[in-house]
Amino acid sequence: RTGGDYTRHQFPLEIPYLQMNMTGLSKTFAGAPVGNLFRPARSNAIRRTCPVSSKAADVDLAPPTKRVAPRAPEGSPVVPPQDLASRPRRNRRSATVREAFRETILTPSNFIYPIFVHDGDDDIPIDSMPGQSRLGWKTGMVKKVREARAAGVNQVVIFPKTPDHLKTATAEECFNPNGLAQRSISLLKDTFPDLEVYTDVALDPYNTMGHDGMVRSDGVIMNDETVYYLCKQAVSQARAGADVISPSDMMDGRVGAIREALDAEGFTNVAIMSYTAKYNSAYYGPFRDALASAPRPGNEDWSIPKDKAEYQMDPANYRECLREAALDEAEGADIMMVKPAGAYLDIIRALKDSTTLPISAYQVSGEYSMLKAGSAAGYLNEKDAVLESLISIKRAGADLTLTYFAVDAAKWLQEV
Ligand code: PBG
Repeated sequence: RTGGDYTRHQFPLEIPYLQMNMTGLSKTFAGAPVGNLFRPARSNAIRRTCPVSSKAADVDLAPPTKRVAPRAPEGSPVVPPQDLASRPRRNRRSATVREAFRETILTPSNFIYPIFVHDGDDDIPIDSMPGQSRLGWKTGMVKKVREARAAGVNQVVIFPKTPDHLKTATAEECFNPNGLAQRSISLLKDTFPDLEVYTDVALDPYNTMGHDGMVRSDGVIMNDETVYYLCKQAVSQARAGADVISPSDMMDGRVGAIREALDAEGFTNVAIMSYTAKYNSAYYGPFRDALASAPRPGNEDWSIPKDKAEYQMDPANYRECLREAALDEAEGADIMMVKPAGAYLDIIRALKDSTTLPISAYQVSGEYSMLKAGSAAGYLNEKDAVLESLISIKRAGADLTLTYFAVDAAKWLQEV
């Protein structure tokens, strides 16, 4: 060979049949008990041989290559090359080409970091979510947001832990202008004016019965009465400085009602991220621990549904998400969310293909805790497994991802 243009990957293997011309080759191996007996050979017409020219050129030759031909392990079977026009592995053969052809790139600017706050000074670790704490709203919260921003995460959503004595059956605390959520939002916007602050709209953190809506004595979740308070909650959050109001309650008609309430108060620039396809999921368990917001047991006098199946979607349903999406879009949502994320990638894709609105996905507490537990047990490599989960959510169609891994993942992305 005359110092050719081979790269490491392009060296032909040193096996005899490569020295034959291709037409001879197919004859030689016709009917041989190896290779692709059931696939028609490509037409001879498109086969070419390319003999190396032996004529010395009147130019400097490339210096002899130092690259050596790779060796197959001894004992490798000697087989004819498969007759394949298309070999997808050519587009994966080096880190450079893999990077060149990568379809999805994670960036911290797409992450929203969910933050639990409480009304004290200490950070209180959440047992079922290792690595996450209820943060003191004046202390740990500000510190954590500063850390998030340094890593490139500039969007957060606030979840307040309401003390039991402020909870009522009708959850009025949710629109207290001096409530914990409102104070936290205001402090964040004062400290970091360009931080994008999302809020949660639902009654469960404020409701003695632990439901997103008011519970009637026969166990029915009262829709329109709940929406009336959700509007007050949304407006109080906007007054505190919130950028994006996120109703997570799944009541009918709440997006339109909140849009109207915000506009009536002059908050036409405050956006709505609707939890459009929020499923009645077992993966919210650790979150409800963190906020002590799980449905409470009922009694003979007052029945309380033990789960949220009356308003959150049935995990078995796909088409229903399109109905919810059509309504939310018509009612004025700016962003549509799917929740949970990892087990609902088909729903993310369905929404993505059915709208021109941005799509967000919530990698919820249970998804976080599973990955944490698997990593802590040594079953998973945490960084690799987490980044794979996040790239999958984005690949499925999520423009934004709410994730408790936001800050860690942003730091990992800086390392790569
Ligand atoms: C409350 C709310 C929940 C979550 C976000 N907002 C819990 C629920 O619906 O019971 C869950 C988030 C998580 O699990 O990380 N409306």
